[in-house]
Amino acid sequence: MTEQKTWSQRFEGALHPAIARFNASIGFDIELIEYDLTGSVAHAKMLAHTGIISAEEGDQLVAGLEQIRSEYREGKFNPGIEAEDVHFAVERRLTEIVGDVGKKLHTARSRNDQVGTDTRLYLRDQIDQIRSQVRELQQVLLNLAQGNVETLIPGYTHLQRAQPLSLAHHLLAYFEMLQRDWQRLGEIKERVNISPLGCGALAGTTFPIDRHYSASLLEFGDIYRNSLDGVSDRDFAIEFLCAASLIMVHLSRLSEEMILWASQEFGFVTLKDSCATGSSIMPQKKNPDVPELVRGKTGRVFGHLQGMLVLMKALPLAYNKDLQEDKEALFDSVKTVRCCLEAMTILLREGIEFRPQRLAVAVAEDFSNATDVADYLAAKGVPFREAYNLVGKVVKTCLASEKLLKDLTLSEWQDLHPAFEADIYEAIAPTQVVAARNSYGGTGFEQVRQAVQDAQERIMSE
Ligand code: ARG
Repeated sequence: MTEQKTWSQRFEGALHPAIARFNASIGFDIELIEYDLTGSVAHAKMLAHTGIISAEEGDQLVAGLEQIRSEYREGKFNPGIEAEDVHFAVERRLTEIVGDVGKKLHTARSRNDQVGTDTRLYLRDQIDQIRSQVRELQQVLLNLAQGNVETLIPGYTHLQRAQPLSLAHHLLAYFEMLQRDWQRLGEIKERVNISPLGCGALAGTTFPIDRHYSASLLEFGDIYRNSLDGVSDRDFAIEFLCAASLIMVHLSRLSEEMILWASQEFGFVTLKDSCATGSSIMPQKKNPDVPELVRGKTGRVFGHLQGMLVLMKALPLAYNKDLQEDKEALFDSVKTVRCCLEAMTILLREGIEFRPQRLAVAVAEDFSNATDVADYLAAKGVPFREAYNLVGKVVKTCLASEKLLKDLTLSEWQDLHPAFEADIYEAIAPTQVVAARNSYGGTGFEQVRQAVQDAQERIMSE
């Protein structure tokens, strides 16, 4: 039987060891320690500021808490299962360091508002770091785009060749997805950044605390207006998991394209040795493990979102121990998103090389210029639908004779329609096909050059 000293004198017996292990969160909530210390420092200062404890006691508490921080950073503070959770672990160590005054720290506070405060401080910090990682990946995409405005790549719909694109345009699509992720995290951060400290166990406190004071020390943007809501709200965590899931959606789409592009069938990119792995049996293999792992890890983040929604569903007010389950989901999601962002950034920065020869052949060897033939006729007054039908017929005959559109002679073109002239060849050349799509947001080189510049300005100015 473990000795159980945590609870009040009401308890006589000790907790069953298996139940102690089952109940404890110290194994994972130690992750919150820096935030727990920071939150406790603010709480101690507030207690002194309001005269609930003396200034001297406040100073002693703060010094003790900072000592624990140093001990932790030096690897000397390693609380075990007996501490139950990070909050008790800190309070116990504090009392060892500063003596009985340490027992005053928990005045006018509960672990319920404390853990809510810690989790918000943690997430706020992580959001900042994830946002800068998103920016880094955006910059890498932008650099790649800058050098590839005039590189062509087949564009697909239904994974069938559709129309050729500027490679930069394709890359900038991901820049835009990440831009939304960056913005979304910024918006969510506002709702993460609200202080529950001082909500107490559920109903507030009998002490004359100053919640605004501790909130401002912790740089919270606002405080919870209702104590019940303050201790039991995890909307901010769900919102974060939604945003994290969307980042993973975007990374997994990019990953899937990298995997396809690195295949022998596509052959659009080669993987550099720094970001590829071999097979234990097939000596010729070079595998795209990085994007595959990103694609695979996406599932666990979605799972955590679902798990958190189910955790919160129908949970009665206010705090319930169920809420302890929010942490591993959150921590794992944060770690997963962060390592995936890092890996994708490295992969795109130095782990792949586009193969211009293969790309040039790919865009020339198909019928992805068929729309341009129809557009050519439509520009000469042939109703588009009529032109579309005619080109369909041309493609069919070409396919039967294993020819491409560019292989037709001028008289063959003119037999199909008298409106065709010698300039049809230029109109269907891949570079012209791309250049011609000069509508706003389109793949035309002029548009893409402008888009690259705008993108750079947007990330510099925000
Ligand atoms: N370890 C707990 C958690 O993470 C701290 C709050 C405990 N509160 C309580 N009333 N048992 O949720």
